Amino acid sequence: MMGLLQSFELAKYILENNVYPREPSSLKEIRDVTANHPAYFMSTAPDTAQLMGMLLKLLNAKNTIEIGVYTGYSLLLTALSTPHDAMIIAIDPDRGAYEIGLPIIQKAGVEHKINFIESQALPVLDKLLQNLSIKYPSFFNLHFSSFVWHFFNFSQSNSSFFFFLGISFKQKENEGSFDFAFVDADKDNYLNYHERLLKLVKVGGLIVFDNTLWGGTVVQPEEAVPGKRKEARRWIMEFNKWISTDERVEICVAPVGDGITICRRIC
Ligand SMILES: C[S@@+](CC[C@H](N)C(=O)[O-])C[C@H]1O[C@@H](n2cnc3c(N)ncnc32)[C@H](O)[C@@H]1O
Repeated sequence: MMGLLQSFELAKYILENNVYPREPSSLKEIRDVTANHPAYFMSTAPDTAQLMGMLLKLLNAKNTIEIGVYTGYSLLLTALSTPHDAMIIAIDPDRGAYEIGLPIIQKAGVEHKINFIESQALPVLDKLLQNLSIKYPSFFNLHFSSFVWHFFNFSQSNSSFFFFLGISFKQKENEGSFDFAFVDADKDNYLNYHERLLKLVKVGGLIVFDNTLWGGTVVQPEEAVPGKRKEARRWIMEFNKWISTDERVEICVAPVGDGITICRRIC
């Protein structure tokens, strides 16, 4: 709650005066149900989400990728900040956590925008870069679309079976077709995600990385950092150093929540 400001009062002031009063009720519901979960601290910070919502609207983002869903706070924020025909590819190996927030997402009337893929993110991004896109009839539910994704990984040759079900695999140019990506998962892969997302997100689009100030530990001497935070801190610091010289993107580090790095693809 103290956040990066290192001032409990100031962080509380911003949240209570400027963030919570404007937080959509469905997002508050996800925040409330998540508060009872043992890993509640993983949820994206509400002030970060508020900034992301503004970025999504400024961009008029329609096609987005989300890596690291957990109970769906940032995912619901994205769904609420994009148009009715938006398409959000949301990737997380933990479907159980997603299902905690799913009834709230359904009640908010935005589930149709979400293609949840229960998987590690790297193979999904690689598949997208192979230009594979799945078209399935809208009456199939999300479990089914996720199932199809996995099945297809094993069985590209079973096309007649899928054709019978009304599903087709279409070669599509995925490169440069996404407006926005949000990365909030395994920190050791941030550079791997960056390389792939730079191809998937269009020139002018944004890739936003969460937790890039890692609770302020990036400026602490290593010996002062709690043991369980050390490894991810190293990855984050390596990412921060590397991204600062990447001329393919403009960057801005915003000290909201746990710190986010906003990258705008420029070539
Ligand atoms: C910090 S939480 C995401 C929080 C989420 N943005 C929210 O607002 O609630 C990190 C999530 O990343 C997921 N994750 C871990 N490794 C992953 C990977 N290799 N690919 C995709 N997701 C992963 C975890 O299961 C966890 O749900």
